[in-house]
Amino acid sequence: MRIDIITIFPEFFSVLDVSLVGKARQSGLIDLRVHNLRDHTHDRHHSVDDTPYGGGAGMVMKPEPWGDAIDAILTDVHPGAEPPDASVMPETTATDASPLLIFPSPAGDLFTQAMARELAEESNLIFGCGRYEGIDQRVFDHFEKDGRVRLVSLGDYVLNGGEVAVMAMIEAVGRLIPGVVGNPESLVEESHEDGLLEYPSYTKPAAWRGLDVPSVLLSGNHGAVAAWRREQQFLRTARVRPDLLPPAN
Ligand code: ADE
Repeated sequence: MRIDIITIFPEFFSVLDVSLVGKARQSGLIDLRVHNLRDHTHDRHHSVDDTPYGGGAGMVMKPEPWGDAIDAILTDVHPGAEPPDASVMPETTATDASPLLIFPSPAGDLFTQAMARELAEESNLIFGCGRYEGIDQRVFDHFEKDGRVRLVSLGDYVLNGGEVAVMAMIEAVGRLIPGVVGNPESLVEESHEDGLLEYPSYTKPAAWRGLDVPSVLLSGNHGAVAAWRREQQFLRTARVRPDLLPPAN
């Protein structure tokens, strides 16, 4: 999978050199490229923001650097393809082969494990990290005309910008790419994979600070262990996230 990130803080993403994503980059499973939005400005101050039309607090990110930065990536991903031309207004021609543009935003669709699974099927993701009061709406409208654009929210809270959200999404998506996680079985028994929270886990020693490992886990009875784990999943989900349970439960 190729992942491009556009940001005014490229240094944020140096952490993606380490851990599983770092290994996946080294082995070529993930081709991750970080682009500085300011490289696509043409004024002396490399400005990326301006005051909002209609007034209001804060600054809005200007459309031109975003347009140029995204055009450059699209041309690099599909050399020879024409960048979208606003004056022509073509019919929608988006295919699954066209890169998916993702902009983290508290106004977007909620990021879930199901969405992570969908994104892991893509071959090209382009993440645009907004800052300030957001990006000029025309950037989304323009690239939606003959491409695919999604606004995605990490949750009902406000971050200072999209960088941290993009890192979370890349970690969640990256580990679902075949080969990135060494033992694929470990992906199956995780929170959210079957719609429930995961069961509690224990390792040696069997007793620690007066706390014993539940005896069923020491029994060697695989059926009983599986039943206990399933029950724990339901109990934990009912206690912590009842909204995840189907209404009958
Ligand atoms: N940018 C600012 N807040 C955000 C959020 N909650 N999710 C995704 N991107 C954001």
